[in-house]
Amino acid sequence: MTQPNRPKVFVTRHLPDPVEARILREFDATVQPEGPALSAAAIIKGAQGCDALLVAPGDAITAEVIDALKGSVRVISTFSVGFDHVDVKAAQAAGIPVGHTPDVLSDATADLTWLLLLAAARRAHEGEKMVRDVTWTGWTPTQLMGTQVSGKRLAILGLGRIGQGVAKRARGFDMVVHYHNRSRLSADQEQGAVYHASAESLFQVADFLCLLCPLTPATKGLINSETLKKLPPGAIVVNSGRGPVVDDVALIEALKSGRVAAAGLDVYVGEPNIHPGYRDLPNVYLLPHLGSATVETRLAMGNLAIDNILAVLAGGRPVREVVI
Ligand code: DGY
Repeated sequence: MTQPNRPKVFVTRHLPDPVEARILREFDATVQPEGPALSAAAIIKGAQGCDALLVAPGDAITAEVIDALKGSVRVISTFSVGFDHVDVKAAQAAGIPVGHTPDVLSDATADLTWLLLLAAARRAHEGEKMVRDVTWTGWTPTQLMGTQVSGKRLAILGLGRIGQGVAKRARGFDMVVHYHNRSRLSADQEQGAVYHASAESLFQVADFLCLLCPLTPATKGLINSETLKKLPPGAIVVNSGRGPVVDDVALIEALKSGRVAAAGLDVYVGEPNIHPGYRDLPNVYLLPHLGSATVETRLAMGNLAIDNILAVLAGGRPVREVVI
């Protein structure tokens, strides 16, 4: 049933039921069944005449999409903190503010980063496979010896909200936290973490390297054959930020040679079609982009994504606006 008095919103992805229920109460909305991302052409077609667009990672909200919708769409709200799938410059040039969902997902993503770190260090994938495949013949003194986590150096590339959550958890493991950001944080945000003015300097102390920086032209491919050589031998690499920060060929090579002892990955270049070289490697723990995937967090993200739309349609700015 059409609701002519309510703003029209095109939602590109199936969202958690309570979020969709609120969307359908607040807006005259088109929602989607569970499934892969829509093509740019399908988004343009579906969003014609809409007041707002609610999108998510995996959608390509290009300058072309924005250009096709700028006559009616007044706000783009993404169900994510990351916004590399939205051409924010094109949106801003078209006068369309972009909202996102920071903070509400920081704890869930920090927890998952620790899952990757511990699983990679303690060879969880190999151990689980052994149990499931019935190839475990019993405890032995040398079985699946991993890397000690407690007391080591944790290097965080991108000490933002999620990184600070990862660092907070690291203190419980008696780790010394190092970080690199473009600018040094306040002492209150650092909480004792050691600042490195360059990524190269950070790499040298990275017993564990955690990648949490946003994807930008400067960070794309930053972890490559040259930078991997700067890590201490046997380092462990964890990526819960954005896949393209890593050059897959270089990381796979380093994992094969043992130069990098193990990796824990949640994000990839070309998701969901990840580099096939990862699939058979025993020393990489792979998850399918689950960083924020808890019920509590996904509901909070949905509510903030809706609030961002309502704020703009009421004449204001998104509650959490993307600023570049
Ligand atoms: C984000 O929010 O950017 C994540 O990648 C999905 O939760």
